[in-house]
Amino acid sequence: MTDVAIVGGGVIGLSCAFELARRGRSVTVLEREQPGFGASTVAAGMLTPSFEVELTPQSLVELQLDSLRRYPQFVREIEAAGGQSCGYRDEGSLWVSRHRDDELELDHILKIQQERGLPARRMTGQEVRQVEPYVSPRAVGGLLVESDHQVDSRKLVPALHAACHAVGVELRTQTAVKSVERARGSLQLTLEHEASASTLNAEQVLLAAGVWLEDGLITPLPRIGMRPIKGQIVHLQGEPLARHVLRNSDVYLVPRHGGRLLIGATEEEQGFDMNPTAGGTLDLLRFGFEVLPGIYDLDVAEIDVGLRPTFHDHMPVLGPTTTDGIYMASGHYRGGVLLAAATAHWMAEVMTTADVPEHLEPFSFDRFLGQRAQQEAAG
Ligand code: GLY
Repeated sequence: MTDVAIVGGGVIGLSCAFELARRGRSVTVLEREQPGFGASTVAAGMLTPSFEVELTPQSLVELQLDSLRRYPQFVREIEAAGGQSCGYRDEGSLWVSRHRDDELELDHILKIQQERGLPARRMTGQEVRQVEPYVSPRAVGGLLVESDHQVDSRKLVPALHAACHAVGVELRTQTAVKSVERARGSLQLTLEHEASASTLNAEQVLLAAGVWLEDGLITPLPRIGMRPIKGQIVHLQGEPLARHVLRNSDVYLVPRHGGRLLIGATEEEQGFDMNPTAGGTLDLLRFGFEVLPGIYDLDVAEIDVGLRPTFHDHMPVLGPTTTDGIYMASGHYRGGVLLAAATAHWMAEVMTTADVPEHLEPFSFDRFLGQRAQQEAAG
């Protein structure tokens, strides 16, 4: 028996496990592969609420900003507990415009950012190259967002793993959860590890299973339409060419320590296919070259592929479900790393106090139930 069983050992599952264990709950995390397998360790780790601000509902922007504010403390606590670095950097991000279309888009983004209280500074092409000398001489302008930060997701996941271990979380890897059902006053999970079945009883279950939320997992809950959106990301290696995260509407380039540069990311509907493709790589390198021509001489170190867990409205579910004791923190789409700090804090609040704060209402499980009833009625 455990107080909380968490289905999924990605950045969301581990962050919630860490926070719940710090609040005195016994926690068991069940991970079907290795921690961070689906999306978390592939993520570029940008903490950049400014990026897709024009496409993002205000409720989600506010949650992103809340998470960004919590991040320094979140990282300090993880690093203090487990002794491993999360690779946090605070250089900010820089939009780079290539032509008049991009310039008009940056004016538009600046206006929305100002309306939403996000600080940003417009720049000329020359000012962009003063800040980042390797940016293409063809760049005509930029937008600097100093409040945007980043973590290295390949460090964050092991750091979280170590922190969880330090606060007593039990992590079971290569362990698939086949079903969750109510049984005599608690919840019973049926598990499969190396082809043998077992059960685990828990007072509460948190579903943080990423794209596998509705794939081979039987629960009392209605299906609410989880699907994977594939993202490919190219890792280059060589002379460091940038300090800031650089981006335009087609691509982002994320510098990591040691001369690693990530260029991401494709957005593809290919189900659970995790193969890198020539077309995806071609697009990323072509768009990346327009921003930083010097990438031509870097080594291709890796092509990484992740599956973003996504609901129809591209918003996560955070909170209780329709079954007592079963909670959900899933569907973070492009924002799992950024939203991890707020998700851990608010899920721990909800699961230890039973109160759901008003600002989590847009992320309720229930929001899908009306749509589902309508679809069923329409046949
Ligand atoms: N967070 C950026 C992406 O998913 O590509």
